[in-house]
Amino acid sequence: MPQIINVNTRAPYKIYITDDELIPREIDFSKYTKAAIISDDNVWALYGEAVKASLKKRGLLVNRFVFPHGEASKNLNTVSRIYEFLDKGGITRSDLIVALGGGVTGDISGFAASTYLRGIDFLQMPTSLLAMVDSSIGGKTGVDIQSGKNLVGAFKQPIAVIINPKMLETLPYSYYIDGLGEIIKYAMIRSASLFEKLEAHTPSTLREILPEIISECVNIKREIVENDEFEKGERMLLNFGHTLGHAIEKLCNFTGISHGVAVALGMELISVAPMFSGEMAADDFTRLHNLLDKYGYFNIQTPEFDVTEILKAALNDKKRRGNDISIIICEKIGHGKIKKMPVSEFLNYSNNNLNE
Ligand code: GLY
Repeated sequence: MPQIINVNTRAPYKIYITDDELIPREIDFSKYTKAAIISDDNVWALYGEAVKASLKKRGLLVNRFVFPHGEASKNLNTVSRIYEFLDKGGITRSDLIVALGGGVTGDISGFAASTYLRGIDFLQMPTSLLAMVDSSIGGKTGVDIQSGKNLVGAFKQPIAVIINPKMLETLPYSYYIDGLGEIIKYAMIRSASLFEKLEAHTPSTLREILPEIISECVNIKREIVENDEFEKGERMLLNFGHTLGHAIEKLCNFTGISHGVAVALGMELISVAPMFSGEMAADDFTRLHNLLDKYGYFNIQTPEFDVTEILKAALNDKKRRGNDISIIICEKIGHGKIKKMPVSEFLNYSNNNLNE
C-alpha cells in the first residue's frame, strides 16, 4: 500500500510514496487519452520502457521525448523542442505530460505543461533524491536563462507525484549527496528532530531509513506550500542556503557544482553573520558546520571564489525585491526566519563577518 500525502493547494493533489507499483492503481487516468513522457537520456535508459509499459497497461497511448541530461538542457530551446514534439504527437488538453526524472526534467516538463495550449495536466515521477524531497512538490516550474537560474517559470501543480524510493538504488553517489543538501535544509528551517536523526547517521547508514526521511521532508514542504503556495512569505524559508547557493552556481556557469552542494555551502556562508551577531546560537552553527563536514560537503572539489564575488552575484537573485533583499537565517536548529534588509546592509552584514 502506498503512503498517501494530500497536498491542499488551490488545485489539490496527492503524493504517493511506494515501491510496490511504478504507477499506483489509486491514480485515475480515465480522463486522459495519451501520455507524453518527458525524460533525460540517463533516466530513460533505466526506467523509460517500464514506465511506458505501466502507462499503456492503464489504457493510455504513450510517446516520449528524451533530451540530453544535465542543467545545460534546462532552457527555452529544450522547451521549444518539447512544444514541437507535443504538437506533432497530437497532444491536447485531454492528454497528460509525465515528467520522469530529476529536478531538471520536472522543472522543464512542468513549465511546458503550464504553457502548452495554455496549460495541460502533468504528473511528476521524480527519480533523484533532490526531486523527491523538493522540486517535484509545490508547483514551481521553469527554466534557466543567461542571466540566472529559474528566472523564467510558472506555478503549476502536478495532478500527482509518485515517489518510488527504490529508484534511488541506481542514483550515483554525487546525486545522493546533492539531495541530502536539501534534506539538511529542511531540518535546519523546521525540524530539530530530523537534524538529530541526520547527526546520528552517516550518508551511507541514512540510506536504511530513507523512505522515512523522504516522508518527513515531503510533509514539511507540503505544510509550507499549503500555507503559502505563491511564495509571498513563509515559503521563502525554503530558500535557506539558496541565495548564496544560487550565486555560487551562477559563478560556476551552472556546471562543476551541483545545486544541493551549492545549497549546503550556502547554508554555512549565510549563517556566519547571524552567528557573529548573536542572531543564531553559536552551538547550533557549530552543529551545522559539523554535520556538513560529516556528510562530506567540504571535501567536494569546487572552484574557489572570493566571498565578495558571491555576495555581488547574490544581489541578482530573484528573491531581491527593489532595494531590499530577503535572506533566510536560522535562529537555532529547526527555526528558520526571514530577514529583510536593504541591499547596502546585506553587503556589509555578510561581507565583514565572512572576511573575519
Ligand atoms: N524549492 C523551493 C520551493 O519550492 O519553494
